[in-house]
This record gives sequence, C-alpha cells and structure tokens, in this order.
Amino acid sequence: MRVLSGIQPSGRLHIGNFFGAIRQHLQLQTEHDCFYFIADFHALTSNPEPADIARYSLDVAMDYIALGLDSEKTIFWRQSDVPEVTELTWLLSCITPMGLLQRCVSFKDKVAAGLSPNHGLFAYPVLQAADILIYKSDLVPVGADQKQHIEVTRDIAIRFNNTYGEIFTVPNEYIIESVAVVPGTDGRKMSKSYGNTIEMFEPEGAIRKKVMRIVTDSTPVEEPKNPDNCNVFTLLKLFASSQELTEWENRYRSGGTGYAEAKKRLAELVIDYFKPFRQKRCELEKDISYVKQVLSKGAGRAKAIAAETLAQARKAVGLGA
Ligand code: ADP
Ligand code: TRP
Repeated sequence: MRVLSGIQPSGRLHIGNFFGAIRQHLQLQTEHDCFYFIADFHALTSNPEPADIARYSLDVAMDYIALGLDSEKTIFWRQSDVPEVTELTWLLSCITPMGLLQRCVSFKDKVAAGLSPNHGLFAYPVLQAADILIYKSDLVPVGADQKQHIEVTRDIAIRFNNTYGEIFTVPNEYIIESVAVVPGTDGRKMSKSYGNTIEMFEPEGAIRKKVMRIVTDSTPVEEPKNPDNCNVFTLLKLFASSQELTEWENRYRSGGTGYAEAKKRLAELVIDYFKPFRQKRCELEKDISYVKQVLSKGAGRAKAIAAETLAQARKAVGLGA
C-alpha cells in the first residue's frame, strides 16, 4: 500500500506532533511504501520569514531522520523541490467548485483566528489534493483536523476521473488515533502557534524549565488531586510505564504529593524518552550537507513519479496535444 503524508515546517516540531503524527508515520514505514514530505509550499500560506521557512524545513528533516525515518526505504523530500505539484494544483483547481472550498473549516478557523486570508490559504486544500493524487497514494495518515481535506481530495479525484478518465487513485484517510490531544504548557492544545510547546530536542535544561511551568490548579500539597483534569498527569500518561502511572494516580488521589514532584519526574521521563535519538540529532546538526543530500535524493525519486502522473493529467485535459 502507498502511504503519503506531509508536515508543515511552520516551527520546530514538538511532542504533540510526535504523538499525534510522527510516531505513527515512522511505524507505518515497516509495512508500507511510505512517502513523507515537508510541506513548505503550504507553510507559505501564513507568510513566514524567508529565513524561517528554510531553517524549519531542515529542522523537520533532522527530527524525522533522528527519530528513525529510513531514507533508503521511505521517500522523503521537500515539497517545493517537486514543483510539478503546483501545475497539477492548477489542473485540479479548474474542476474544483468554489463551494467545496468555502465549506472548509480549517480555512474558516484560521480567518476567525485573525489570519488575513490570502488566495493560497483558500486554495490550500487543492494543493493538498495535488500532493496526494500526484503520487497515487492509497492511504493518508493524518490527525482528525485534516479529515475534511482528505474528503475534499476524494471529491476532486472522483470529479476529475469522471470528467477526463480514470487517472487518479481515490485515497482513503487513516485518522491517527492520537492519545487524545497533547496539552501544551498552558493547558491548551500544544501548538507551534500558541507558544506553549515542548520540543523533543531542545536542551535538557529548557525541557525541565518548561515542564516546571506547566499550568496546574492550586490544590495544596496535602489535599487529594484529580488526575483526570491535570495537564501534568495527561503528559505522564504518554511517557510513564503503566505501573508507574498507577502509582502516580494513587498518589494524586490520596493527597500528600505536590504537582512539583510530578513535574520533576515528568521532565526526566521526557528527556529519557528522546535520549536515544538526541545524539543522532546532534550529529545531523553538524552535517547539514548529509541532510540536504537525503532530501535531494528523495526529491529525485518523488519527481519521477510526479512527472509521470502530471503528464497523464495534462494529456487527459487536452494540453500539449
Ligand atoms: P501545530 O498546531 O503545532 O502547528 P500542525 O497543525 O502542523 O501542528 O500539526 C502537524 C501534525 O501534528 C498534525 O497531524 C496534527 O494532528 C498533529 N498535532 C499537532 N499538535 C498536536 C497535539 N497537541 N496533540 C496531538 N496531535 C497534534
Ligand atoms: N495540511 C497538513 C497539515 O497541516 C499538511 C499536509 C500538506 C498534508 N499536504 C498534505 C498532509 C498531504 C497529508 C497529505 O497537517
């Protein structure tokens, strides 16, 4: 089965991204032909600083490689290195009804959050459809927030096939069962855009500091606490063994344990969890040319497939005859 997913280089990746996406992407590598890319064309929709988009793209690449992306098996590249996808976006745009895009919740949410809407943001799902269709992907593992975009992709693929002939594979989404939403240090969803993240590979001291700042209620040390509405406990669930978690649950419920103690343990667990990959991440940081080489090899493999599909689509719509 051909599996494809993209991740935006809109900031440094964090443990919410890890448990909500990266971990599953890496697991799927063993059983399927995986295609993963850094969605830098998509990131442009929020008008980042040019230097940031370049830096974050490399950061995403280093994080994935350090965490175990197998670049021999998996095709891994930067979206903009295969510009064929933008030409397909245009062909798809011309059969995409405005209403389909006007219904997209992600666009509406971003506008409601104060982002001034540009055309790229509105057309974002069509570029995403082109990403998926150009590689004839069967399965697209994404978080629940992306479900609608995969439905739009299916709709566009079916329309195109009905109009011009069976060119595209109609993909299925695979909604990643995240261990629920990972909370950030302020208790909201951990997100690059909220400044409440804990990154996998930031310095250990910074991880400790951030964990100690996680928002909790003001229940005094001696009183019982409810683990079910505690951000620290929600994060402990991701990192502690089931035996240790039960112990923490009992300690919360019986009182006598302060949040600071749980936070200290959480910080050590987070650091230990990523420790085996940290060394690799440091080595990559010192060998950027290797990272660029991985991406360029991936782009070459991706481009061969993309060019073939694009040629089929151009011919189907009547171009270049
Ligand atoms: P961010 O909100 O930090 O910008 P993205 O929207 O780029 O993150 O998300 C990339 C992937 O990581 C998506 O598949 C998304 O579902 C997942 N993800 C992001 N934040 C979290 C979170 N706090 N908990 C679980 N999954 C998350
Ligand atoms: N929109 C996705 C996100 O924000 C990223 C993305 C771009 C993507 N193109 C894709 C995901 C194609 C899956 C398939 O998470």
